Amino acid sequence: MCNIVVGGQFGDEGKGKIVSYLSLKDNYDVVVRGGVGPNAGHTIVYNGNEYRVRQIPSGFVNKNSTLYIGAGVLISSDVLFDEISNLNEFNVKKRIKIDFQCGIIEEIHKQRDKNDENLSKNVQTTGSGCGPANEDRIKRIGKLAKDIPELREFLCDVAYELNNAIDEGKKILIEGTQGFGLSLYHGTYPYVTSKDTTAAAMLSDVGIGPKHVNEVILVLKAYTTRVGNGSFWNEGKKIRNDKYEKLFNELKITHEKLARIEERGTVTGRSRRISPFDFEMAKRSAKINSATMIALTNIDRLFDCSGVRKFDDLPDEAKKFIKAIEDEVGVKVKIISTGREYKDTIDLR
Ligand code: IMP
Ligand code: MG
Repeated sequence: MCNIVVGGQFGDEGKGKIVSYLSLKDNYDVVVRGGVGPNAGHTIVYNGNEYRVRQIPSGFVNKNSTLYIGAGVLISSDVLFDEISNLNEFNVKKRIKIDFQCGIIEEIHKQRDKNDENLSKNVQTTGSGCGPANEDRIKRIGKLAKDIPELREFLCDVAYELNNAIDEGKKILIEGTQGFGLSLYHGTYPYVTSKDTTAAAMLSDVGIGPKHVNEVILVLKAYTTRVGNGSFWNEGKKIRNDKYEKLFNELKITHEKLARIEERGTVTGRSRRISPFDFEMAKRSAKINSATMIALTNIDRLFDCSGVRKFDDLPDEAKKFIKAIEDEVGVKVKIISTGREYKDTIDLR
């Protein structure tokens, strides 16, 4: 059995928080990371401590889970080794396994990412070397994990082990990275990352077929943020659709209120642009990801409900907003995050 967590906006939806919550609550045997590579940063707050990961799956908080990185994911050895040593208390070194065919980011890829005028100034990439490393992989000249002696102790055939785990009846959680709007195929090209970012891509990244999937959990933040270039709906002063403008007015979700929310990118520290929730985008990403439920995050930034763990204790405005999302998107909101700590979660499953 396998479930997938994917981002429905432009990354930074709070996937780290949701994956850490699920891995503890549902006690997954395996948590495996898909997606592009160390351009994605996931933040986890566990018992008051904050952890940021760019390579290790956010499920590290559950010490019973085996952690994997799929063949589609790029590895930056320095980032990986830093995280393994920072997460020493979680015994990550013994639990992390990397596919022998993961692509490798070398120093030259980071330089090409930063020195390329289009990538650095126009697309405004994270500069982590992911795009150029994938470019080399497509040209079939890039190095793979099996070519790097320091990685040897972590290597295995991830796809094979995951499929065996499924045959043995184990529970697998696939941790997606980035978000729908950053997909090379379905996103806001050319202001996108170097791969597809949908649930189908996450399956392909780790080597599991679609028949094994139970739930696709689409993570949506209660408003839209974006780091890097590329326009997005509702940015600026105007709400284009009268229906949603009326709702935002009713719920007092104003640009002025949102402007007070300070967010910075986990990887780059750049400040995130922000705008009211984009219903159209949520609808489209729910369809293309075949979402079976929504995990809504950061609702405490819009309404007074920090740390609330029961649906009934939410303010009426928050309930109304959640209902509007369900009605418009056509998918139930089953997980609601009301704070950074993994436990600050309403679970309606
Ligand atoms: P790249 O993925 O570094 O090539 O950057 C391409 C675009 O995707 C830039 O706008 C980045 O800011 C954005 N991006 C890539 N990964 C993430 C992520 O995990 N969260 C947010 N934005 C991301
Ligand atoms: Mg992030």
